[in-house]
Amino acid sequence: MNREQLRDYRAQTVPLFNSQKLKLGVFALNCSGGSIITNFPTDRQMSWDYNKSVIQLADRIGMEIALPIGRFKGQGGSSNHNGSSYEVYTWAAAMAAATENIMCFATSHVALTHPVVAAKQAATIDHVSRGRFGLNVVMGWFAEEMAMFNVALRKHDDRYRYGDEWLSVVKRLWSEDGGFDFEGEYLKLVGLESEPKPIQRPGPVLVNAGTSPAGVDFSARNVDICFGSPAKPEDIDQLLAVKTIADEKYNRDVALMCSALVVCRDTEQEAQAAFQDILDNGDWEAARSMLRALGVQSGPCNEGYDQRMRRFVAGYGTRPLVGTPEQIVDMLIDYSNRGLHGIVFYFKDYLSELTYFSERVMPLLKQAGLRH
Ligand SMILES: Cc1cc2nc3c(=O)[nH]c(=O)nc-3n(C[C@H](O)[C@H](O)[C@H](O)COP(=O)(O)O)c2cc1C
Repeated sequence: MNREQLRDYRAQTVPLFNSQKLKLGVFALNCSGGSIITNFPTDRQMSWDYNKSVIQLADRIGMEIALPIGRFKGQGGSSNHNGSSYEVYTWAAAMAAATENIMCFATSHVALTHPVVAAKQAATIDHVSRGRFGLNVVMGWFAEEMAMFNVALRKHDDRYRYGDEWLSVVKRLWSEDGGFDFEGEYLKLVGLESEPKPIQRPGPVLVNAGTSPAGVDFSARNVDICFGSPAKPEDIDQLLAVKTIADEKYNRDVALMCSALVVCRDTEQEAQAAFQDILDNGDWEAARSMLRALGVQSGPCNEGYDQRMRRFVAGYGTRPLVGTPEQIVDMLIDYSNRGLHGIVFYFKDYLSELTYFSERVMPLLKQAGLRH
């Protein structure tokens, strides 16, 4: 399939490529704390019923993306942030069976999952969901988590070289009939085969969230959606480089999306107060441990560190969207005008806040032409 054929095929068959101008989704529901590193009381529960209720609601209101976090170890601190989590492939398979249209994603840490296993798991969920599976390909950054597998974290850019090989094997298993051998720098595999093929051709939707130069090039070369982490609206303009590189260097389409904490209330004061509560109850020790794992240290030369810590506590480093329904929609219009294709949300209380979002924000998004 050439680029135009792939575009047409996906527009007709894959929900993520429907005609909605701004794609929407729910992120990080499967992990305790999600993407908010705080001890603030919440109605969310680590239960399957709670997970299913939220994603079924997202599906009913037409959202396109259910994106979990692949995590095996907590971040310590008083909350042991993300310390309790559902495994993502099994989560996606069960969620696929419980939903109609939303795309259900899993995450593969390439160094922790063998590509033959990952390819087959993905094909299986693509069948369960009738073509609604997506895979987030993660290179890994949390050394203590990888130590649980006795796997060492490679040097930063080498992780992407390994990821390239891993994904080449997976893509070939999804698309090639008959057996093949693979001889790369890291992977040497003999007599590879995998049946059945996924429903989606040439394979399930692929996602990556690398924003380093190596990560952006990997995304441009290999995946369909790159998730950036904008700290401010103008960052979107820079993150769009991934689209240009994909287009000019690799003759491919890549969409840019991001994640964000949403705190939406009837008045701005209420929204700011709820946001402040998240910060006041922040688990700073867990946030520090996460930043350390990501290679960000505090120190005299790191003036932005405290600000970055606050952004991590309230949303994994991306700009939180705080305000009234009208203000939230204005922020989303601005993101869309800058070229963002989609956004996945996390909430403090997913069920009640997603209900509020569907009643108060969705109609305004329709009026604004971002949804229909
Ligand atoms: C939307 C989104 C989803 C992510 N999902 C995961 C995940 O499931 N597991 C994980 O370990 N890291 C996850 N990450 C973290 C990214 O993998 C990490 O930021 C990336 O590896 C950094 O790459 P870079 O060094 O190339 O910028 C996610 C990040 C974003 C923005």
